Amino acid sequence: MTDGLTPPKALPEDEALVLLTLGELEVEGQVLDSSNTTFYCSATLDGVAAACVYKPMAGERPLWDFPDGTLAEREVAAYAVSAATGWALVPPTVLRDGPAGEGMVQLWIDTDETVDLGRLVRRRNDATLRRIAVLDAVINNGDRKGGHLLPTVEGRIYGIDHGVTFNVDDKLRTVLWQWAGEPLTAEAVDTLIALRADIDGPLGERLMELLTTREVRRTRRRIDRLLRSAIHPEPSGDWPAVPWPPF
Ligand SMILES: Nc1ncnc2c1ncn2[C@@H]1O[C@H](COP(=O)(O)OP(=O)(O)O)[C@@H](O)[C@H]1O
Ligand SMILES: [Mg+2]
Repeated sequence: MTDGLTPPKALPEDEALVLLTLGELEVEGQVLDSSNTTFYCSATLDGVAAACVYKPMAGERPLWDFPDGTLAEREVAAYAVSAATGWALVPPTVLRDGPAGEGMVQLWIDTDETVDLGRLVRRRNDATLRRIAVLDAVINNGDRKGGHLLPTVEGRIYGIDHGVTFNVDDKLRTVLWQWAGEPLTAEAVDTLIALRADIDGPLGERLMELLTTREVRRTRRRIDRLLRSAIHPEPSGDWPAVPWPPF
């Protein structure tokens, strides 16, 4: 979707966060293929406008395995971890009030509609996709479908829809198992070491505002486990490994 609301390509991350947090939010439409209420909006501040999604907590569909009204915070927590890796895999995401109450607001990413998602998710030699697999292992992503990967015309890939993450039980469900059991890249190991330090510092403090103490502790433990094994996780066997539907 392109409609002139897209921010200048070079909109820096910190400016995007200010725009999303303080900008005037106007609902332009509703995303229909979504399980939770998802609005397509514009955020405008000082004459600069950006398209974004807005998912009010009140529109969250209750889930048996997650406490009610916590999906928006999990989305922001996933963004915080992505930002801490330096990999910028999740579009800027904030928690704020909006026309339908408190919720999450995330920068809209224009996708390259010509990319075949079925083929994209099977790529093995894609460094971004492989980073997303590592991020998912850290945040315990229970819903990495093909449709939650957004390829851009610039060749970037963003991950979205991180509402069902950070559960205290292992729930990794993903279409990205192509590296299962293979050694983590040296870059991933370095990043995880930095993340491990950060979770005892500023990242941990931020996550404590968004998740429970137990959920943050389990995240730390997942990082430790990844560093100890130094391999990409394998399906556990006691949880469906691939989301249904996968796209
Ligand atoms: N940041 C975004 N940029 C572009 N499209 C998005 C973004 N977030 C969501 N979408 C679109 O909206 C759809 C529904 O959003 P999603 O986050 O999957 O919501 P739900 O929690 O309801 O499944 C996505 O499949 C995608 O097409
Ligand atoms: Mg979704």
